[in-house]
Amino acid sequence: MNESIHADATASEPQDRVTELIEQQTAISEVLRAIANSPHDLQPIFDAILDSATRLCRADLGVLRLSEESGLRSVAVRGNPLLVSQFWSSFPALAEKESFPFRMAANRLPTHIADLTALEGERDDYWIRAMNAGVRSGLAVPLLKDNEIVGLITLTRQKVQPFTDRQISLSRDFAAQATIALEITRRERQYREAQMALAHANRVATMGQLTASIAHEIKQPITAARAYAAAALRFLDKSPPDVAEVREVLTCIVNETGRTSDVVDRIGSLIKKAPPRKEIVDLNVAILEVTALTRSEAVKTGVTVSTQLAELPRIQCDRVQLQQVMLNLIVNAIQSMRDVEDDNRKLRISTESIEPEGVCVAVRDSGQGLRPESLPRLFEPFYTTKPDGTGMGLSICRAIIEAHGGRLWATGCEPRGALFQFTIPAN
Ligand SMILES: Nc1ncnc2c1ncn2[C@@H]1O[C@H](COP(=O)(O)OP(=O)(O)OP(=O)(O)O)[C@@H](O)[C@H]1O
Ligand SMILES: [Mg+2]
Repeated sequence: MNESIHADATASEPQDRVTELIEQQTAISEVLRAIANSPHDLQPIFDAILDSATRLCRADLGVLRLSEESGLRSVAVRGNPLLVSQFWSSFPALAEKESFPFRMAANRLPTHIADLTALEGERDDYWIRAMNAGVRSGLAVPLLKDNEIVGLITLTRQKVQPFTDRQISLSRDFAAQATIALEITRRERQYREAQMALAHANRVATMGQLTASIAHEIKQPITAARAYAAAALRFLDKSPPDVAEVREVLTCIVNETGRTSDVVDRIGSLIKKAPPRKEIVDLNVAILEVTALTRSEAVKTGVTVSTQLAELPRIQCDRVQLQQVMLNLIVNAIQSMRDVEDDNRKLRISTESIEPEGVCVAVRDSGQGLRPESLPRLFEPFYTTKPDGTGMGLSICRAIIEAHGGRLWATGCEPRGALFQFTIPAN
């Protein structure tokens, strides 16, 4: 007797039922562990779900597809290794609308095909490929969220061997788990995107306030200087010209313009105004938090992020301010890579300890690089080459780093890209 049928036939016996329940329990905790271990990355979660589903439903191959605009895309394939590689080579990754898998998902209910060879009416290109790949029995369970199809799990066997009711109900549980995992990561991503948007909106709002107060403070001396200049012209028009009066008003003009440049100088100190809060910080952990925050932005832009974090001395610093520096540098790096070729978008973040007691942090990208004319102006307030940029990011970064007694600088990279580095002394 066939081994799987044998397993099904005896599963009604109490001992087997207990074993089966334990197996199910283990499968659920494996999936939960995968979710807990990788809240940002769905792949290990999908793999864990499919591993359990194929094993517990005694299938030879399990495939998970996710909905996208043009159909269903295979994102995870598990089971017999030979069949897995055969799947990737003989089936298109995208099952288009109207294809066999897509129509099964559209049912919104599990579809059980006891014998593929006996199937009528569904014999399209997909069916032929499945037949050629040796698939004989199959089970397709849609992933539904609010009755919307978000994906499809298919489990197949190479022999005509129908799935039992218990296996069908089990596969529904796995589909529900996959839907929950998708929802968790979607929310997490939304939350992070909102945080990013907030960080930028904050800066824009601060900029708005800053600009208003600068405009307000600068307007007065400019108006005064203008009135003095008009007076000077009148004193010159006298005959003879009243040189002493002209000298006096010119002095006033010099004073007033001096006031305007004081206001401009104050912009820098305004940014630095709040003294940094000093707390003992594990900089590597703080950096990883920011990397997580920017992950979805990186994924969206197709950027591969790598980190190389060395053991660091504990430093006293303002954690939130340093995270803001990292956020600005990382967002700049990601933005600089928007126009470079796909497989070449690399962001590398590294830390090292330096002598005497301190740390050095480097953010390196493979983006468009720094234009020679930009180099001397990068850290100037309001210097930007972006249509929607405020040009305040780097000047704020430098102000923060200098308030911590450190240094921030930029260099070009070969063959492409930019490297921003900063140091922070340990005390
Ligand atoms: N990693 C980088 N690669 C290439 N150019 C960069 C990079 N980082 C910054 N720059 C250049 O420096 C300019 C100033 O950067 P800064 O962060 O101060 O402002 P921004 O990014 O333009 O605006 P905002 O930060 O408000 O969005 C940028 O407009 C860009 O031209
Ligand atoms: Mg910026």
